[in-house]
Amino acid sequence: MIILGIETSCDETSAALVRDGDIIAHDTYTQQMHSSYGGVVPEIASRAHLEKIDVLVRHVMNTAEIGCSDIDGIAVTDQPGLAGGLLVGVSFAWGLQRAYTIPVTGINHLEGHICAVNIDNPHLEYPFLALIVSGGHTEIYRVDGFGEYRMLGATVDDAAGEAFDKVGSLLGFPYPAGREIEKCSRSYEPEKGEDTLRFSVSKLSREGMDFSFSGLKTAVRYHVESIKRENGTVNTARVCHAFQEAVVSSLLHALQNAVVRSGVERVVLAGGVACNGTLREKAREVFPRSLFLPSRALCTDNAAMIAYAGWKRFEYGMTRTPKMKPSQGL
Ligand code: KG4
Ligand code: ZN
Repeated sequence: MIILGIETSCDETSAALVRDGDIIAHDTYTQQMHSSYGGVVPEIASRAHLEKIDVLVRHVMNTAEIGCSDIDGIAVTDQPGLAGGLLVGVSFAWGLQRAYTIPVTGINHLEGHICAVNIDNPHLEYPFLALIVSGGHTEIYRVDGFGEYRMLGATVDDAAGEAFDKVGSLLGFPYPAGREIEKCSRSYEPEKGEDTLRFSVSKLSREGMDFSFSGLKTAVRYHVESIKRENGTVNTARVCHAFQEAVVSSLLHALQNAVVRSGVERVVLAGGVACNGTLREKAREVFPRSLFLPSRALCTDNAAMIAYAGWKRFEYGMTRTPKMKPSQGL
């Protein structure tokens, strides 16, 4: 079964073809123009999706040497995301459906992120816990089977990726700042006798499985401002390192709590922040035998994960009419 995946929910326009769960072609265009605005501008994003979506779909079809009549189904992200972006993807999918009578299913973007791990680990057993860490979401789900998700914890304010981006902007990095903060943090070399800089993260209820990152962001801002007030030089690498340590330990602490409380040992990381090398390394130390990670390229937004989720939905007869729902969770 060949499934065409379409992803346009935020600032990545992406198309992919999956044959029985294997990626046969995949192309993603990342909209760079938002960096000068410090975040994604929804109207600019939807226009850029409109300009690129047909180019990308054509490109993956040419790469895989297939025509429209070879496609068995279309999977399109229809929730959650920016309304204008979703509208472009869903309308494009409907256009193909009308012109070539190909069945279409809507896919929840978060289900796509979770499915990214199955592309390289198709036999991953259920149940498992999935920590989704992206620019818009920071949530822990218990996954009991394909399509069976129960939220165990979530951020009460900023998402982890959003915290990376906001702290990055404070430190002068362009949007999105996650990768830059990671790179800068790696260059940190403590000076002899230097105190370790530590930022604390708020602890919340729901049995230690929720998150809060807005206080951390404020703590970084106060630290930077106090140094500047005294005409000192901000050691950006030291700040990045301390900030990243705080985020990573908060994420892993909540995930450990979730493992203990749920009794489910297998854990999966998903979403753009799961590209972070320190998070991946520390997660391997904490869960040496029970951690499953998607490849870095499949952590950030992409259509391969949407096509894969679509393939499962077509296989299991679990398809649904695409409906744009910008704020729908799993
Ligand atoms: O999953 P994604 O591509 O889009 C959303 O669904 O939000 O995630 C994007 C987020 C951004 O906030 C970006 O700064 C963050 O993932 N990110 C990282 C890294 N690479 C991307 N955060 C920390 N370290 C990274 N290496
Ligand atoms: Zn995403």
